[in-house]
Amino acid sequence: MKIAVLFTPLGLSAPELAGRGVVVIDVLRAATTVITALANGAKAIVPAATSEEAVRLTANLEKDGLLLAGERKCLKIEGFALGNSPREMTPEVVSGKTIFLATTNGTPALVAAQGGDPVMVGGAVNFKALVERARAVFAERGDLVIVCAGREREFALEDAYTAGRLVRALKRGSRKLRLNDAATAAVDLTTHYDDWADALSHCEAARQLAEVDLGADVAFSAKPDRFTVVPTYADRRIT
Ligand code: MLT
Repeated sequence: MKIAVLFTPLGLSAPELAGRGVVVIDVLRAATTVITALANGAKAIVPAATSEEAVRLTANLEKDGLLLAGERKCLKIEGFALGNSPREMTPEVVSGKTIFLATTNGTPALVAAQGGDPVMVGGAVNFKALVERARAVFAERGDLVIVCAGREREFALEDAYTAGRLVRALKRGSRKLRLNDAATAAVDLTTHYDDWADALSHCEAARQLAEVDLGADVAFSAKPDRFTVVPTYADRRIT
C-alpha cells in the first residue's frame, strides 16, 4: 500500500500514472471552482493547459451550451465569459453548460494528470466526500498519487496542507502503508495549522487574491464540505 504526494505536477507523465488512482488538488482556486460549478449543475468542465488552447477547443462548437472561463494573474481573461472565481459558478450561470477552463496552475496540473484512472478533483469544499472516494480507490488499487497544482511551478502551502489532511485520513486503519517523503512532510505540515482558514491565511496565493479584491474567494475555498461531489476527469472532460 503506497501513497505518493507530488508538491508540483512538474515532470508528470501519462505512462507513469497509467492505471493508478490520482487526486489533483488546487484549493486556490481551480479545483474549488470546478467542484462548485459541477455541484451547481454544470454539465462538464474541459480543462485547458492555456487560454489559447481553451479558445481553440471551442472553435468549431455550438456556442450556446458552452462558456469560456479562466484567469491570468487571478483576473478574468479578456474576452472570456467568466474568471476563475468559485463564486461566479452559480446555478443561474453554469447550469447545463460545458465550461472550458484555463488557469495558471490548476488546469495544467489536471491536463498533466490525465493518464490516471480515476483522476479525482479535490479541495476543502468537497473534502469529506473526497476522502471517502479516495479511500475506496486506494483500497482497491493499493496505490494513490496526490498531485498538488502548486504555484508557478513551486510548492503551495494550501495544496500541501490539503494533501496532508488527505493522507492523514487515509492512514487511519491502514497498516503497512508506505509514504514517499513528500507525503510524510505533508502530514507533518497539518500539525502546524488548526484548519483550512488558518492554513490559507498563511499562503501566498491568498495574499495575491486579497490584493486584487478576491479575498472572498479565499474564505469560500477554506470552508470544508460545502459539496458532496467528487469530480472525475476522463476523456478530456471533468464530470
Ligand atoms: C490556478 O489554477 O492557477 C489558480 O486557480 C489561480 C487562481 O487563483 O485563479
